Amino acid sequence: MNETFLKACRGDKTDYTPVWFMRQAGRYMPEYQKIRQKYDFLTMCKTPELAAEVTMQPIKILGVDAAILFSDILILLEAMGLKIDFIDEKGPQVYPTVRTDRDLENIKKLELESINFVFKAIEILINEIDVPLIGFSASPFTLATYVIEGGSTKDFVNTKRLMFSEPESFHKLMTMLTEATLSYLIEQIKAGVHAVQIFDTWAGVLSPYDYEIFCKPYVKRLINGISIYHSTVTDQRANKKVPVIYFAPNTAGLWLHLKELGFDVLSIDWRVDIKEAAKLFNQPLQGNLDPLVLLGKEEEILRRTETILIDGMNARAHIFNLGHGVNINTSVDKLKKLVDFVHEFSYKLRKFKLPDSQ
Ligand code: CP3
Repeated sequence: MNETFLKACRGDKTDYTPVWFMRQAGRYMPEYQKIRQKYDFLTMCKTPELAAEVTMQPIKILGVDAAILFSDILILLEAMGLKIDFIDEKGPQVYPTVRTDRDLENIKKLELESINFVFKAIEILINEIDVPLIGFSASPFTLATYVIEGGSTKDFVNTKRLMFSEPESFHKLMTMLTEATLSYLIEQIKAGVHAVQIFDTWAGVLSPYDYEIFCKPYVKRLINGISIYHSTVTDQRANKKVPVIYFAPNTAGLWLHLKELGFDVLSIDWRVDIKEAAKLFNQPLQGNLDPLVLLGKEEEILRRTETILIDGMNARAHIFNLGHGVNINTSVDKLKKLVDFVHEFSYKLRKFKLPDSQ
């Protein structure tokens, strides 16, 4: 297996900067569209063979250094007795919503068997691919926003209403989501994923004060829970600790809190300078090209990528990625050129130590 990505996650030296993209499998890719025309998104997630096939597309087409399991952060909710749906134009739907203490009864005891398709897809993939497979979950707070709002939101009114008017109920919900997420991630690790990424997509809507109360303890519990799991297994394969990547866009104002989380890798977005992040965080960094730069001219894409790769040399290790998911309007050809450029330029950067590095 090509271990470059995992080596970088562990902070070891690599011959070149590994690269993968959030949402690297998706509607921007004709090969994905071909399958998507026949099946709806949930069917694709729930059919292990289809999920595995789509997961592999970007490895074959783009030549990325890691695969991310094709699934969704909301799938876990189905194992907690809630229903989810993805409606074109309307986005994801979750029901019934949890907005009061009584609504907590809608959340049932976790039954991971009901989403066995996730673990089956992982088992197929680890036998088929020659790059590491990344598993994932949402953070408990990000998941809570969907459970409370019933879908995507711009203002998080219902989430914050519950948080500020019934903090005890909010904490109860967070505890349930955290324990379920921890079991879910451990089950993915047992099935064979080589790394996990926690998507804290909406953490940035919280003040530092409220992040500390309502979000941080639960992310810490997750990361710590994975460490505890690793310390208790004696299985040979499970011996190597699976790196935990934390992705929380729009959270530069929360960096001092992030420092205390205990993740192995921090995934940063384009709103921050990777050199600045490297001054504060000792861990490897992942990121951080604005995905919409890919809609621009090739020379501009490569110019910005060069800067990120050079500045990324200041980090303990660097994994190239976008600051968020691949946009649907992205050209596959440009993305493929970007992967080749990251590999070639970063290889030279290490080999010849270009004068303007560091
Ligand atoms: O990164 C990957 O390639 C792995 C697969 C993955 C998907 N969603 C596939 C998907 C992952 C890791 C996610 C995470 C996810 N899902 C997040 C957090 C990541 C982030 O963007 O910060 C969130 C907030 C969701 C919830 C979600 N799922 C939304 C809001 C939507 C609708 C938006 C959209 O682009 O349609 C989805 C649907 C979704 N998840 C699609 C894919 C490929 C599109 C499905 C389709 O219609 O084909």
